[in-house]
Amino acid sequence: MLGWDELINECEGCTKCKLSDTRKNIVIGRGNLNADLMLVGEGPGEQEDEQGLPFVGRAGQLLDLLLKAMMIKPDEYYIANIVKCRPPNNRVPVEDEAEKCLPFLRNQFLLVKPKIIVCMGSTAAKYIIDKNVKITQIRGEWIDKKGILFMPTFHPAALLRDDSKKVLMWKDIKKVKEKLDLLKHKES
Ligand code: URA
Repeated sequence: MLGWDELINECEGCTKCKLSDTRKNIVIGRGNLNADLMLVGEGPGEQEDEQGLPFVGRAGQLLDLLLKAMMIKPDEYYIANIVKCRPPNNRVPVEDEAEKCLPFLRNQFLLVKPKIIVCMGSTAAKYIIDKNVKITQIRGEWIDKKGILFMPTFHPAALLRDDSKKVLMWKDIKKVKEKLDLLKHKES
């Protein structure tokens, strides 16, 4: 396992897949490095590639609103992606790209040590929970893996395309908030 400084260095110098050819900035993560809650998306989009930060474009703004409305503060979570470089035209990362990038995300899991990991969208669910899952079938139900709780839900970009998903993601994030509060209560 690498420490944060080493991990950032490795990511910045990474050329393991061809996404590194076209990236402007590597997008590692943002938020509280010791958060109980981690959220994982798919990969950086145009804005994220420009700024070097995850979820700062339209989908990120919607996610921020959702979390704020649920009273989950920005300093209560850490957010990252399956791949750290923008796939051209925002296509879905191919398996080879995701597999080469995943050790970095696993290292982030080990450093942040979240109790809850929210997998947003089918790419996050596929690489973190199960290769063969469909997000529509598993969303909204807790999965316990070695003491870490995983909550699969929609990707916020899907909500921008389909309004009916908003209420479902809201329900999923409400479960996350309730669990977070319960964990805090247990600690105190
Ligand atoms: N979509 C993602 O999956 N991640 C981002 O950082 C931005 C949009």
